[in-house]
Amino acid sequence: MSAIGTVLVTGGTGQTGRVVTDLLHRRGVYVIVASRNHPREPLTPGVRHLRFDWADPATHDDALREVDSIYLLPPPLDADPVNVVDGFLRRARDAGVRRTVLLNSSAFPLRARGLHAVRLTVQQLPEWSVLLASGFMQNFVGTHPTAVAVRERHEIVAAAGDGRTGWIDAADVAAVAAELLTRADHDNREHVLTGPEALAYDDMAATIAAEWGLPVRYRPVTAAERTVQLTEAGLPRPFVDALVGADVLTASGAEDRVTTEVAQIAGRAATSFAEFVRRHRG
Ligand SMILES: NC(=O)c1ccc[n+]([C@@H]2O[C@H](COP(=O)([O-])OP(=O)(O)OC[C@H]3O[C@@H](n4cnc5c(N)ncnc54)[C@H](OP(=O)(O)O)[C@@H]3O)[C@@H](O)[C@H]2O)c1
Repeated sequence: MSAIGTVLVTGGTGQTGRVVTDLLHRRGVYVIVASRNHPREPLTPGVRHLRFDWADPATHDDALREVDSIYLLPPPLDADPVNVVDGFLRRARDAGVRRTVLLNSSAFPLRARGLHAVRLTVQQLPEWSVLLASGFMQNFVGTHPTAVAVRERHEIVAAAGDGRTGWIDAADVAAVAAELLTRADHDNREHVLTGPEALAYDDMAATIAAEWGLPVRYRPVTAAERTVQLTEAGLPRPFVDALVGADVLTASGAEDRVTTEVAQIAGRAATSFAEFVRRHRG
């Protein structure tokens, strides 16, 4: 086993958590995967699953036992997770947790409370990193509403105008997290993580059309229209607000940027959208 000690991976069965777990395990780190449900696939021998629920503080102390570092995924779909995460991090500090790497989104408007406020709490810890990740390319595959609209209606609908985003592969986010959880020379810092290019939805529709052979088009709508659509589709209100908020920020040009943090930290080129789409053909 490595000298890093035990890492607790919250959301360890999710898109980034699975990859973080795998990368840490391959480095010889002892990993505890924390989530409400046991993963469907068997875990790699040596990796342990622990039932952990943000909504059930009775599960929190067990998760922190003999843990040195945490990959922190705040409760998904909770628009104001500060109180529950604050309490957990206080316990973490008392339990001797040294390092925390928080996953957060760069596309949520900065406000005192809400999703971004967790950032400020994490920064009270001895060693911390905050990952401000751009939109995940994974939103175009699987069960995400964007992916469903692409497959079933051949359209991308958003209130993002012609704003661009530096879309990123969630696996690249995970690679950065694994590195920051294990590197010796740590500095407490925020990292804006993007893919290699900033793309508008028109560009993405064209790439998907070319690679998947689907006549995909981008249909821009207003923020109010998008809110109604997503609400009528049955999405929970905090998720609707987060998605539409991200669109509005994108339309303003705030997400039109590219950083080199993935290459600098993970030591490999960030995946391009064309490459990602090619890999997910079919
Ligand atoms: N999608 C994007 O474009 C984007 C961009 C930037 C940042 N992000 C951030 O990425 C985060 C999602 O990360 P991801 O994609 O790696 O995760 P994910 O695939 O959405 O999976 C969520 C994970 O959290 C666990 N979970 C859900 N509710 C929980 C609860 N109440 N208590 C404990 N665990 C719970 C899930 O397992 P169980 O259900 O079994 O508990 C699962 O392991 C979001 O918070 C978002 O802010 C997303």
